Amino acid sequence: MAENIYPIYDRMMTRADKESLLGQRGVLVWFTGLSGSGKSTIALGVERELHARGILCRILDGDNIRAGINNNLGFSPADREENIRRIAEIGKLFVQTGIVTLACFVSPTEAIRSMARRIVGEDDFVEIYVSTPLEECERRDVKGLYARARRGEVKEFTGITAPFEAPVHPHLNLDTSVLSLGQSVEATLNLILSRCGRG
Ligand code: ADX
Repeated sequence: MAENIYPIYDRMMTRADKESLLGQRGVLVWFTGLSGSGKSTIALGVERELHARGILCRILDGDNIRAGINNNLGFSPADREENIRRIAEIGKLFVQTGIVTLACFVSPTEAIRSMARRIVGEDDFVEIYVSTPLEECERRDVKGLYARARRGEVKEFTGITAPFEAPVHPHLNLDTSVLSLGQSVEATLNLILSRCGRG
């Protein structure tokens, strides 16, 4: 019977129990932007600030997701969608455990980001657009991927041969070609503190 498919669920302790244990509210902070725009760098700075304030936080990014659970996925539109779907589902588990979760993924289309928002839940989802212009990301070319994409060695590279749709109404817009790292971290931190019950 349908009500017996997940018999354990009703007996699990609740999100509210976890949040009161931690003394914080869970929230998913979703960073979107081009490769090399600064998403993970900002998240690393924010993580340190949260940790110093006794707020439990978890970063999800390519290093721990695409190298692990999503190591069977590439960069076709279908694979990017599956990448983001799994990340949103994982992020939701963290959020429901009361953890401030920072997700750093290119997530290049409105459709993909809407899916993530839908999975996580509108109330728990904060979108930050790291809007560093393509020219600056390409100039930095931290991983050498832009040069390879220009030479045709990397297919469907976001910003070069695959699309990036800017978010329409992000909670924050951070252009790291204009803002210092400290300014981006501070703005993100303030947003999170106001959302996680510790502001
Ligand atoms: S997403 O589009 O599915 O959200 P994701 O954030 O997981 O992308 O991975 C993007 C990272 O993978 C980039 O920062 C870059 O280092 C690397 N990468 C490798 N190939 C591509 C590609 N074709 N397009 C974009 N990023 C790529």
